[in-house]
Parts: sequence; C-alpha cells; structure tokens
Amino acid sequence: MSEQPLFKVTIDNITIEVPAGTTILNAARKIGGEVAPPAMCYYSKLEGSGGKCRTCLVEVSKGSEKDPRPMPKLVASCRTTVMDGMEVKNITSEKVIDARNGVVEFLLINHPLDCPVCDQAGECHLQDLSYNHGKESTRFEFQKRTFKKHDLGPYIQLHMTRCILCYRCVFTADQLTGKREHGVLDRGDHAEIATFIEKSLDNEFIGNVIDVCPVGALTDKTFRFKNRVWFLKPMDAHRDCPTCSGKVTLWNRGDEVYRVTARKDQWGEVEDWICNTCRFEKKNTGDWVIEGPRLIDRHSVIAQGHYAGSIGMHQPKETFEAVHNGRKPKLLMDIHSVSNVNRPEITLSKLDRPAHSTDFKPNQD
Ligand code: SF4
Ligand code: FES
Repeated sequence: MSEQPLFKVTIDNITIEVPAGTTILNAARKIGGEVAPPAMCYYSKLEGSGGKCRTCLVEVSKGSEKDPRPMPKLVASCRTTVMDGMEVKNITSEKVIDARNGVVEFLLINHPLDCPVCDQAGECHLQDLSYNHGKESTRFEFQKRTFKKHDLGPYIQLHMTRCILCYRCVFTADQLTGKREHGVLDRGDHAEIATFIEKSLDNEFIGNVIDVCPVGALTDKTFRFKNRVWFLKPMDAHRDCPTCSGKVTLWNRGDEVYRVTARKDQWGEVEDWICNTCRFEKKNTGDWVIEGPRLIDRHSVIAQGHYAGSIGMHQPKETFEAVHNGRKPKLLMDIHSVSNVNRPEITLSKLDRPAHSTDFKPNQD
C-alpha cells in the first residue's frame, strides 16, 4: 500500500502533520490535553462509531490551503477528516464552547440525577462533561423518559434511563461477538437499546459493553453498590487466560478484589478486550499476578481519594440549609431505604470503618 501524504493542520494554534484521512479528533488527540475534544460516542477500536453525540463539535475556520473558506457550521470532529492547511478551533472558539454547553444540556434532559447512587460516578464521562459545560439548574420541566426494565442476567445491569444512545455497546456486541443481537429500537425520544440485548449475553466477550458505556447505563452487577471507585485501589494484574489477553485492572480494597475491568488508555478506551471469566469470576487476589498500581490521571477523582485517609465521619459543612440561607429542603430521601442495598441491621453512615461487601445484600437487581 502506498504511503499516505502528510497534511498540515492547525488546531487551537498548534500545527502538526498527520496522514491524509486522519480525522480532526485524532489529529487533536495527537496534540493531546485540552485541545482534544471530548468524545462520548466515538471509540477508536469500534468500526463505524462516532457521529451520534455531537460533543466533539469544532469550528473549521479555514477549510484548506486550496480552499481557505471557513466551514459554515460547526462539524463533528470524529467524522471530519483533515485537509492540507486546515485550521481548526476547539477551546479557542466561543461558538464551540457555546454549542458544547447546549449539547450537554440536551444530553442531560433525559438523564436522571443518579450520580449519588450510580456505580459509574467518579469515572463517568457525562459527569465530567457536566462539570465543565453543564448548567447548575435545568430548564426542562417535563417528565423524563421511563422504560420497561430488562433483566440482562447475573452480570450486567441495564439502566435505560441513563443511556445517551451512543451506540458503542451495539458496535461492541456486533464486532466482538460476531453476531448482531441487540441494537437501538425506535427513534427520537422513544429510542432504546433493544430487548434483544438479552440474546447476546451468552457470549464470552459481552462484558466489554460495560467498559465502553460512557455513562452508567450498563454496569457490573457483581460490583453493584459495593463500593465507590475512589475508595478502591486500581492495580494492574494479569493471569494466564485461554480466552483473552488476561491483562486487567483489579479494583481492590485491602486484599479484597471488588471488581475487574479492562485496562483503559488516556482517552478512557479499553486497551485489550477481556473475557467474562476474567471480569466476573476471578475475584480472588490469588487468581492474579499483580504488576503494580495503575497510573491514574491526577485530575481524576480516583486519584484524589488516594485510597485511604479520606474515609471517615466528616460531616460536610455545606448542608442544604447552609447554602440556601436557612431554607429547609422540600423533600428528603433516605438513600439507604430508597436504594435498599445494605443489610437492614447496618446503617452505613454509622460505620466507623470502610464499608465492605459483607455489609450489602448479595445480588441486588
Ligand atoms: S447503553 Fe451505554 S454504551 Fe449502550 S448506547 Fe447507551 S450509553 Fe451507549
Ligand atoms: S464523539 Fe463525535 S459525535 Fe460523538
């Protein structure tokens, strides 16, 4: 195959050369840092992904050397390839920031405020986006979408209300399991991950849908409500697995393995797909050869926790009444009675030690 010519592209005033056919998003990722637009649906390892969520919109202020006219509208950087001499604005464009704020507001229209009870909290891309681009209140006055519950078996929990319809899990099931068993049914605000997801569940690699889901719509039932990710210590480990590479990240507390995930790169993408046996059934440290602590970005809430020391009975000073000039909340929910996950005789907030899996009821749906 002949070598691709190199195109010069300038993104946020930084010029690099990339092979023709590279998307703006991947060119920006080569520069790295803030210059790389956020991506909620694009996934470099999944063919056909991208073009769904619009979080990666950028402004093309110069089309190319040959045709320097700017593009009239913002474009999805994951689906637009670079041209020679192209100039792109991401964080340096007010239009982009404004549009991204709008996209985040749209994504949150139907997304429930589940973060306090959602297992994805702390590693949720939508949560990160909301911190950077979200509004402090909502303008949406209507009822959010509701769905019939689907039981996906003992390993995977589907919360359709949290789904942002990025299609990543559909591509994962399609491309890893070799047969398309689930998809997105209906369109508009009726669109949902199809019931036929149940049919792909017998595949050894289907657990990877949990890792690709950018929000908490697909989570690991064997880890559900057991701990918060920022209290766990991620360790790189491997085992001799006949099915997959066996290279994983263990999420430990002391000697207890709370969950097993694939290793993820700096863009939050899986490095090597792992099998269900490694992910769900090898929960003893003895099953693994520990390589050492996983390097976590220092900006991540997981790095902030530093595993120990931050756990304890510090009552927050910023109570509802304190920040609302003495006004009492209209409704107070006891999260323990609502979520019903801990053993009834145990009040989690009264424990003078970290909570362990034995404090929770087994196999919560
Ligand atoms: S369940 Fe998750 S991965 Fe699948 S479409 Fe919804 S948000 Fe994307
Ligand atoms: S990442 Fe480009 S549209 Fe979703």
